[in-house]
This record gives sequence, structure tokens and C-alpha cells, in this order.
Amino acid sequence: MRLSKRIPSTPNFEAFQMRRSLLTAPLLALLSLGGCSNATPTIAAAPVPVGPIVPAGVTPASIAMGDSIFNTGACQRCHGLKGVGAQNGPSLVAGPWLHSTGKFEEIAAVITTGVARTALNDQTRRFPMNPRGGPMNLSDDQVNAVAAYVYSISRDRR
Ligand code: HEC
Repeated sequence: MRLSKRIPSTPNFEAFQMRRSLLTAPLLALLSLGGCSNATPTIAAAPVPVGPIVPAGVTPASIAMGDSIFNTGACQRCHGLKGVGAQNGPSLVAGPWLHSTGKFEEIAAVITTGVARTALNDQTRRFPMNPRGGPMNLSDDQVNAVAAYVYSISRDRR
């Protein structure tokens, strides 16, 4: 009885062994690559990013100024308080970037030019985004401040 119970389990065990070797083989290959890296100078190391990690215009003071412009001004009416998204504007804290790759300068550029109706990613939106916050008509300093704020809340976007 015991034996007959064991027999069916054997193929499973073999399958497990096979899976394990399938998993360990690439791992071993990777490990040996790492070990040989000194002997193979053709494999270049990943480039180390240069320059400051946080863009120059993004400071605690500029973020605070942008926070107040965004959350008391027109931005939050479309993008929601703290930029979480609302009926007339996309989330600025999550999801894919629609009009840039998320760099500080690019965010400032979008706020300066706005998003024209023909450029809207979602053509069913009721309103385009007007340049410089529409009726707020932000100065360059204010655009940079609100861009610093958007930069700070959008780091999880892709
Ligand atoms: C009238 C509504 C409205 C207002 C006000 C508004 N936006 Fe927008 N915003 C939009 C829409 C609509 C889009 C583009 C959505 C699309 O393409 O489908 C957009 C896009 C953006 C983007 C680009 C997002 C991306 O994924 O690339 C940023 C950044 C942005 N807005 C910031 C702001 C800031 C900062 C303010 C205030 C100064 C503001 N918006 C005011 C509606 C608005």
C-alpha cells in the first residue's frame, strides 16, 4: 500500500527537479558572467547618471509655492486636489505620461503652452488645457514653481 502511494508521486518529483534545473541554469550563467566581468572588458558597465538627482528648480520653497498655486488655483479644478485626477483632467500622480517623459523642463513646457484640443490624448474631454493656467496667467517663476510641485507629486508615473 505504501509503495503504491509513492509511485504516482515520482513523476511529480522529476518534474520538480527539471523545473529547478531550468531555473538554476540561467542563474548560474548570470553568476558566472558576473564572476568573469574583470576578464571581459568588452562588457561595458552601465553609465552612471551625472548631475544632480533633483533638478535645480525643484527646491522645498518652489514646491511649497507651487503647491499653493496648484491647490488653490485653477489646476485642481481639472486635475483634482493634489493632482489625483478629476473629470476634466488626468491624474498627475499615477499612470503613464501623456505629453512628456516627466522631466522637470518638460512639465514646465506643458504648463506654459497648455494642451490644445487637437493635442488631447483623450478626445472626449470637454476642455483643452489653456496656456499658463488659463485665467491665472502665471509668470515664468510661477510656472516653474507649479512645475516643481507637479514634478514632486509625479515620481511614480511611468
Ligand atoms: C480646463 C482644465 C485644466 C486646467 C485648468 C489645467 N489642466 Fe492640466 N491638463 C488638462 C488636460 C485636459 C490635459 C491633457 C489630457 C489629455 O491629453 O487627454 C492636461 C495635461 C496636463 C499635464 C500633462 C500631463 C501628462 O501626462 O503629460 C500637466 C503636467 C498639467 N496638465 C498640469 C497642469 C497644471 C500645473 C495646471 C495649473 C497651472 C493645469 N494643468 C491646469 C486639463 C487642465
